[in-house]
Amino acid sequence: MRNRTWPALLLGCALASAAAIGMSDADVLPALKALAPRGLLIGVALSQAQSDGKDAVALPIVTRHFNSITAENILKWENVHPETDRFVFEPADRFVDFGGKHDMFIVGHTLLWHQQTPASVFTGPDGSPIGREALLARLRTHIQTVVGRYRGRVHGWDVVNEALEEDGTLRNSKWRQILGEDYIAKAFEFAHQADPDAELYYNDFNLTKAAKRAGALRIVRQLKARGLRVDGVGDQGHWLLAWPAPEDIDSMLAEIGAAGVKAHITELDVDVLPRDERMYGADLDARKAFRAETNLYPDALPAGKHQELAARYADIFKVFVAHSRSVARVTFWGVTDRTSWLNNFPIPGRVNYPLLWDRAGQPKPAFHAVARVLEESRRDTAE
Ligand code: G3I
Repeated sequence: MRNRTWPALLLGCALASAAAIGMSDADVLPALKALAPRGLLIGVALSQAQSDGKDAVALPIVTRHFNSITAENILKWENVHPETDRFVFEPADRFVDFGGKHDMFIVGHTLLWHQQTPASVFTGPDGSPIGREALLARLRTHIQTVVGRYRGRVHGWDVVNEALEEDGTLRNSKWRQILGEDYIAKAFEFAHQADPDAELYYNDFNLTKAAKRAGALRIVRQLKARGLRVDGVGDQGHWLLAWPAPEDIDSMLAEIGAAGVKAHITELDVDVLPRDERMYGADLDARKAFRAETNLYPDALPAGKHQELAARYADIFKVFVAHSRSVARVTFWGVTDRTSWLNNFPIPGRVNYPLLWDRAGQPKPAFHAVARVLEESRRDTAE
């Protein structure tokens, strides 16, 4: 039987001797990107401060452990194209420069979404709704300007984000209302025209649910039937300690692979705090009570919960490596717990712990659990 404990022991020795000569953990930790199976990118979403190099805690982690980056917000329509005739490219330029300098696979997020899109995209100068041809022209201009600017430098695009309802039918967004059902195909067509070499993805959440996944795979089939390029389906991977079951992640990856496209896990994190029906309600008192009652670890995550999170990440990564031929990338949605969006969702003001590095930039037990699973998978394939 193989000895499964030696990587942890070796790592412990390495850390002890490194500390003795004044090196930090960051200098000796195995780099996640180097441990991953061949062909599996390990990515991370960056805030603007991070891609501007202003987050001194995040910077060494990003450059050491990741070979792919996604812009968490700066390439969204409202940021890069806030008014009909005005584009703001400086922050996105710095993001793309950062990835280029560090030889990373750069993902653009996202070209078409029903959120973070200015209301003025859908209306004329007098505020009345515009029609299909006018909106198609705006979509074409947006995609061709943004994708065209980064042609050859941004390697993959989340072309359309979250177009599906939970039952797999198309969301009745303004895009669908005004353009009709072929709006997804149009977005892929425009993106491919702007950069024929860029990979193009459909991205959504909850694709571990069979009905919604069927909707995503229907979109893939429809794109292919039109002869359009589609390289991958992204599942965001905003998961909980107890959901989804590893078997459901397994089915999702198997079915995406069988559809002839790559699977991408595009926004991975694991929420350790409770959720319940009060969190979305309009009742402000109920929401405040929800925050107070569920902000369980305002000072620190207890050791037992750290272990639970580590075991959960290990289970998740075991499924990823089992499907490493069809999974092209796993991207974490944030670097350290300090900057995770989950401190502000579903309600602002809770202290969450969803990622691999703590608020001070120290690797958590979850980091070591992921490193161990990746390392073991490499050894297994080498034997
Ligand atoms: O930058 C401003 C800051 O100047 C201002 O003071 C502050 C006050 O609210 O807001 C800041 O902007 C916030 C921005 O994040 C940067 O932190 C926005 O309000 C906030 O809405 C925005 O949230 C982002 C969210 O998308 C918007 O829907 C999250 O950071 C981002 O993580 C999240 O990412 C999405 C993916 O794009 C799609 N999948 C789901 C995922 C999580 O919601």
